[in-house]
Amino acid sequence: MSAAEADPSFLARLDQLPDGGFLEVEARVDGDAESLVLYREGAQVRAWLNVCPHAGRRLDWAPGQFLKSAQGHLVCAAHGASFELVQGDCVSGPCRGDRLRAVGVNVAEGEIRLA
Ligand code: FES
Repeated sequence: MSAAEADPSFLARLDQLPDGGFLEVEARVDGDAESLVLYREGAQVRAWLNVCPHAGRRLDWAPGQFLKSAQGHLVCAAHGASFELVQGDCVSGPCRGDRLRAVGVNVAEGEIRLA
């Protein structure tokens, strides 16, 4: 582990995340150990708790394996809620109108960190 990776705000290197793809990371958010889903769009990365607002289940179907629909939405593996990837709003499925809980992240020098 490098010195940067020992920093608790460090989440991942940008090059670990394919453009248009997801990455699951573990981080401390408000003092709690949480699973996060990172989503990359070009040089931008957005992050949300890996918790579906419908029934509180993880969004991934296996650790780090997320479904993306043909419309470009993140699809919860449990009951199929779909989330757009700007605000994390649920656009269809059982929690329509609800949204994922966003986590602030920064990208600098090729590293993704908690804001
Ligand atoms: S827990 Fe995600 S759709 Fe039900």
